Amino acid sequence: MGTMALHTLSLRALLVLGLWHTGRRSLASAPELQNQPKKIAVVGAGIGGTAAAYYLRQEFGTGVKIDVFESGLVGGRLASVKIKDYEYEMGGSVIHPLNLHMKHFVEILGIPPRKDVPSKMAIFDGKELMFEESDWYIINFIRMLWRYGFNLLRMQVWVESILDKFMRIYQYQQYGYSFSSVERLVHAMGSDSFLTLMNQTLEETMMGEGFSQVFLNDIVAPITRVNYGQSVRINAFVGAVALAGADSGLWAVDGGNKRVCSGLLYHSKSELIPARVTSISIKVRPSKTGATASFYEVSYVGESGSAHSLYDVVVIATPLHQGMSDITFSGFSPPIPSHFPGRYHQTVSTLVHGLLNMSYLGATGPASAFKVSEVLTTDSNGSFISSLSSLDPVHIPEDYKRPPSNETKVWKVFSSQPLSQEQLQNIFLSWDSVTENRWLAYPEYRLPSRQIPPFILHNHLYYLSAVEWAASAMEMSAISARNVALLAHNRWHEQDGKIDQEDLQTRLRGEL
Ligand SMILES: Cc1cc2nc3c(=O)[nH]c(=O)nc-3n(C[C@H](O)[C@H](O)[C@H](O)COP(=O)(O)OP(=O)(O)OC[C@H]3O[C@@H](n4cnc5c(N)ncnc54)[C@H](O)[C@@H]3O)c2cc1C
Ligand SMILES: *[C@@H]1O[C@H](CO)[C@@H](O)[C@H](O)[C@H]1NC(C)=O
Ligand SMILES: *[C@@H]1O[C@H](CO)[C@@H](O)[C@H](O)[C@H]1NC(C)=O
Ligand SMILES: *[C@@H]1O[C@H](CO)[C@@H](O)[C@H](O)[C@H]1NC(C)=O
Ligand SMILES: *[C@@H]1O[C@H](CO)[C@@H](O)[C@H](O)[C@H]1NC(C)=O
Repeated sequence: MGTMALHTLSLRALLVLGLWHTGRRSLASAPELQNQPKKIAVVGAGIGGTAAAYYLRQEFGTGVKIDVFESGLVGGRLASVKIKDYEYEMGGSVIHPLNLHMKHFVEILGIPPRKDVPSKMAIFDGKELMFEESDWYIINFIRMLWRYGFNLLRMQVWVESILDKFMRIYQYQQYGYSFSSVERLVHAMGSDSFLTLMNQTLEETMMGEGFSQVFLNDIVAPITRVNYGQSVRINAFVGAVALAGADSGLWAVDGGNKRVCSGLLYHSKSELIPARVTSISIKVRPSKTGATASFYEVSYVGESGSAHSLYDVVVIATPLHQGMSDITFSGFSPPIPSHFPGRYHQTVSTLVHGLLNMSYLGATGPASAFKVSEVLTTDSNGSFISSLSSLDPVHIPEDYKRPPSNETKVWKVFSSQPLSQEQLQNIFLSWDSVTENRWLAYPEYRLPSRQIPPFILHNHLYYLSAVEWAASAMEMSAISARNVALLAHNRWHEQDGKIDQEDLQTRLRGEL
């Protein structure tokens, strides 16, 4: 989405970036080699599953066979669609400049970021545009100051302070530390104050910090709506992630974000198995040493019928929720449910190649003069849409100029319900194609927060997508992927000193 920030990379950020590129700790050291897992399965080839394959390879070395199961398209919620001559992003689209794992992936894969096309944001209250970003930074600043006092500036400081703590996870992971639950991972970043964020609504938290109700309604709600399709009553942790998603410097992957997923599969030398996993059961077998060893039997249905194979370690990288995936777990005690409690929020992404009805936005000037590319919406009765944006292709051609609004071009509408013909006719004067995708996009963040699902479902059976109940984003899946790979490695080799360590912040300071 658009930018409203006054943000530049801080010194702190640069320091972290610098740290990132210093040596990686040595992995899979020699004594461990006798007892390595032989086969690992990953279920799901979205960014979570493919990043897991990448980090599992890093942790367990070249000897292990890694199979990645995917029932749909590689990329999952990262997907693009072709309209006329170009491809456009349908799902997850923007990446924060401090999302270090995503940055690292495009670097090792040699994929450039997409060329930037400047954008301009406005906020629609259901009747008219109540705020329109100007080309001039100073004008935006004065308008904001006039209307909201120092709320905007303070919000940036607040988000940055959260981001500062969030960034600690990269250092912990760099040193091989892992966490056995989402709560512990979140606690390691920002101690109790971060757990409190997960337990409170963004509204409560920001009101507590002294932000005004008007600011919440006019500025914060449009941001949570465009990023999570939900109100300011989402938990404050995912709320802060949403607000960071309104920073400047957001980027995307040239050619489409899903390229990272296929790149990671290839880079990790994993085998992609195009099949739907139907069940996972536990099998116990006597081993050569006389002790028993347990394996996971993964059953799946592909084009050539159904089959099953045995694995030492399994990572589930798809939400175990109604409508997302249907996997039966058998033989486990305590039992593992196919679906955890809680629902995923529907966000309908509608891409329209058409001509915008300027009067829908209450705009009066000529369409050719309308330069806004991102329209956010307040939480009012009038807006059945969450956002409306002018889309640029996933790859920006050399001589590309965003078409003006008096011409037919591609617009993306987010809404929680599919758009009716009547609603389309309201927003657009005419169109020649409509492409709709109904995503179960991210969790429905209701409070009080229900029990967050565990990372560890069984000894060597892991659940990567549990992290989405703290916040759902590409980087969150990537962080969880690395955590699960480290956790699998640390548990396999019984390195308890690398799991759930307290006070890492102080302990690692000495090592810097
Ligand atoms: C409309 C929309 C906009 C978004 N915007 C952003 C954004 O701007 N920035 C951002 O960071 N994030 C954004 N997100 C969130 C982001 O896309 C997700 O958090 C992220 O892509 C999740 O990746 P994942 O790999 O964990 O899950 P998924 O991408 O859902 O991957 C799971 C995969 O598992 C497969 N699968 C399911 N069941 C089975 C089975 N039984 N057997 C085999 N395979 C199975 C699925 O087909 C799927 O490919 C957005 C999401 C949506 C929907
Ligand atoms: C958050 O809420 C849950 C459930 O109400 C509770 O068990 C937990 O202790 C709370 N945590 C914090 C840090 O308040
Ligand atoms: C355009 O929007 C206005 C205001 O919502 C509406 O009255 C009109 O019917 C819409 N469609 C056309 C074709 O003008
Ligand atoms: C859009 O407006 C520009 C500038 O006024 C004009 O040059 C162009 O011909 C218009 N395009 C269409 C399709 O009307
Ligand atoms: C929304 O509509 C309902 C019923 O039409 C009305 O009671 C309520 O006041 C409206 N809310 C706002 C914020 O306009």
